[in-house]
Amino acid sequence: MNDKTIALHDVELSLGRGAARVHILKGISLEVERGEAVGLVGPSGSGKSTLLMTIAGLEQPDSGQVVIDGTDLSRLDEDALARFRGRRIGIVFQSFHLVPTMTALENVALPLELAGRDDAFAKAEAELAAVGLGERLHHYPAQLSGGEQQRVAIARALVPNPAILVADEPTGNLDEGTGSSIIDLLFALKAERGATLVLVTHDLSLARRCDRTIRLRSGRIEADATAPAPVLV
Ligand SMILES: Nc1ncnc2c1ncn2[C@@H]1O[C@H](COP(=O)(O)OP(=O)(O)O)[C@@H](O)[C@H]1O
Ligand SMILES: [Mg+2]
Repeated sequence: MNDKTIALHDVELSLGRGAARVHILKGISLEVERGEAVGLVGPSGSGKSTLLMTIAGLEQPDSGQVVIDGTDLSRLDEDALARFRGRRIGIVFQSFHLVPTMTALENVALPLELAGRDDAFAKAEAELAAVGLGERLHHYPAQLSGGEQQRVAIARALVPNPAILVADEPTGNLDEGTGSSIIDLLFALKAERGATLVLVTHDLSLARRCDRTIRLRSGRIEADATAPAPVLV
């Protein structure tokens, strides 16, 4: 196994049926190293979310390969793919996607409970403390601010200790100050755990915090550039 944690080869993907079918990803190839932070940018409709979901194994390409940590996702059946995703990939969405009828603690414990782990609640509590919500364990999503809900969602994504974290405009529903504290948290947790991060954003200052920026246009990679090394003073 090499150190490419994400490798896509000539991925083509269309969604929708009949006349509504749209060719979204058009020959995407890319490789991401372990521990790298990649910012994915591009105009609305260029395919950023679809590419992220393809990396996360939630969308399957029509052709081409998606290889995560040496495993070709097309070789896994539905159950194996769900287990693989649950262990290896954490996903953070713009709109949090918390279960409204569950407390913060129950939301974060859920992925571990589904995996049959007896330590689900202890781990969830530690993870909520790590995102600064140790005092909000028994609150429901509606009782939390947007920034707090996104912290819960980050704790839920990270609780299985995934090697890869993907985030789709995680600050899109937050004000600027709250958004920047969420991004600080994401980068701090990523660094602490040595995870690989793929971050979709339309905020170029956010993308610049990544090691590398990939720009999509109409389903193709238009540019792929490593950030210049910071000047040390
Ligand atoms: N389920 C779907 N069925 C048909 N078209 C879709 C579907 N999901 C997304 N699209 C279309 O694919 C294109 C890319 O969408 P998306 O990946 O969400 O772009 P982005 O995240 O860059 O805004 C858009 O034109 C969108 O309308
Ligand atoms: Mg999108």
